[in-house]
Amino acid sequence: MTKGEAFHSLLEPDLPVKTRRRSTGCQFFIMGIATALSLASLALAVYQATSTHQSVHAISEGVVSAWPTPPPHEQVTKVARYVVHTSAWASIATISTALPIQGFPFANIISVCDGPVNKSSGIPYMYMTRFDLSGKDLLSNDKATLSFSEAQSDYCSKEDFDPEDPRCARVLLTGHIIELKNGTTEANFAQNALFSRHPIMKSWPSDHHFFFAKMDIVHIYVLDYFGGPSEVNVDEYFKTDPFA
Ligand SMILES: *[C@@H]1O[C@H](CO)[C@@H](O)[C@H](O)[C@H]1NC(C)=O
Ligand SMILES: *[C@@H]1O[C@H](CO)[C@@H](O)[C@H](O)[C@H]1NC(C)=O
Repeated sequence: MTKGEAFHSLLEPDLPVKTRRRSTGCQFFIMGIATALSLASLALAVYQATSTHQSVHAISEGVVSAWPTPPPHEQVTKVARYVVHTSAWASIATISTALPIQGFPFANIISVCDGPVNKSSGIPYMYMTRFDLSGKDLLSNDKATLSFSEAQSDYCSKEDFDPEDPRCARVLLTGHIIELKNGTTEANFAQNALFSRHPIMKSWPSDHHFFFAKMDIVHIYVLDYFGGPSEVNVDEYFKTDPFA
């Protein structure tokens, strides 16, 4: 197998691909998304660092200049909802099905949101494609973990907390990733939420067959202070208002 073929099979082993060239284009598209996301979050972080607003302040639909101060660390359930709602992306871990790394844990980056800026549902929604490595893994095994870090906002850097400092909150949601059928109420909610907070998604190419998905959460860990992680009850998580 040549190097080119290995790369090809890593990305799209069983999807209909017309030419090698098209597959390469897809790889660049995925890499382009990752680069655009990093730049967008960097720009947002810089903007937030120069802002002093204390309440949710939308500078345009879906784009937030500053979130309210995080809840106290004792209120772990609220912290979980706060970090999930204020995050624009997460790390998604799946069990890899890609030939060179089959069976290994595989952590990727994915854009997520649990609602538009003014409505938190607690449910992580995503706009996914099976052309992506994680999307493909989930076809064989829908189990995943989404990791969120408070380091995404300006809070940890302002407090001088390293991303691994336990006071820089981490939320780890484990569950099943479920595809949402277009046209359902939930898919419409996901679409409004994602497209308002990630407007570029509207222009992602239709031939990549993007679909809306959510995580059906089965377990929640929160690490927001010294003394090890806390487990948060899933029902309590959904009942909590992160901003009340
Ligand atoms: C949230 O904002 C949108 C416009 O961006 C508005 O239409 C909607 O009524 C608001 N919802 C709530 C609950 O405030
Ligand atoms: C679902 O809706 C999105 C957004 O309108 C669209 O891009 C996508 O192609 C649709 N998917 C299907 C399977 O119809």
